Amino acid sequence: MINKGIILAGGTGTRMSPLTKAVNKQLLPIYDKPLIYYPLSILMLSGIKDILIIVNKGQLSQFKKILPNGNNLGIKITYVEQKYPKGLPDAFILGKKFVGKSNVALILGDNFFYGQSLTKKLKECVRLNKGASVILHPVSNPSSYGVATINKKNKITKIIEKPKKSFSNLAVTGLYFFDNDVIKYSENLKPSKRKEIEIVDLLNKYRKKNKLSAHFLGRGGAWLDTGSIKDFYSTSAFVSTLEKRQGLKIACLEEIALNNKWINKYNIMNAMKFYGKCSYSQYLSTFIRRK
Ligand code: TTP
Repeated sequence: MINKGIILAGGTGTRMSPLTKAVNKQLLPIYDKPLIYYPLSILMLSGIKDILIIVNKGQLSQFKKILPNGNNLGIKITYVEQKYPKGLPDAFILGKKFVGKSNVALILGDNFFYGQSLTKKLKECVRLNKGASVILHPVSNPSSYGVATINKKNKITKIIEKPKKSFSNLAVTGLYFFDNDVIKYSENLKPSKRKEIEIVDLLNKYRKKNKLSAHFLGRGGAWLDTGSIKDFYSTSAFVSTLEKRQGLKIACLEEIALNNKWINKYNIMNAMKFYGKCSYSQYLSTFIRRK
């Protein structure tokens, strides 16, 4: 069972420059809330309450203004600073103390997931006891991602980062589930040509032991990338379209916490005070009226 999660929210955000020169990408808006709300909502929907957020050195105070310590959401948020982007598995080196002897989920701070039965699928993923698992999703441009093939038992048989020759359209998304060996494996990784430790090398350690499984969102699910300016605005448009049509918010953290019974209506009232007069607070006020 996994009850701890890490959000990797550092990075240089080079593709989004100059937007990311003064502000961390994860604090930029996807429609009506900061990007970080979306990956955080995914961990909360999975039932994870103990969360480590890894941020760039010097950016801690920016994050704490919007997500102080999790009390307001009935969860626990702690932070660690990363001096410079050393690669995704650095999350487990920086997070060694946080993880302790537990199993752990990792989500990239710029990944967006949405779809029917997502919560049910996430709950299946966090049931992991041994080995590791990833979520695979079809994309039209597999050469931009880590790409995988699977066997009949949903075990991953091959995984290659940004393959030149297309062999599968199944991309490895930025949500991963690991047993506690992940710390030992991450510490033993050697930097690649681009001088980073690579998630694919980490995943391959599990694959070689036949311990890497795949989960799927299904074709009704959305996994969107927010790495480039174009993709960032497409994701924002997606959220805006759905929210306006349904009158329901995606990644409203207080709504998820309330549904999980981690907070009560008094916490919602405090949240409204914190946010002030805005459409987000107006949305929150609907829960109080319902109770
Ligand atoms: P990337 O997309 O690899 O990097 P980036 O966000 O800095 O963007 P760019 O490529 O335009 O420079 O990272 C994916 C996510 O993981 C992103 O949210 C940043 C985060 N990250 C870290 O926090 N630390 C790291 O060492 C790396 C490599 C990424």
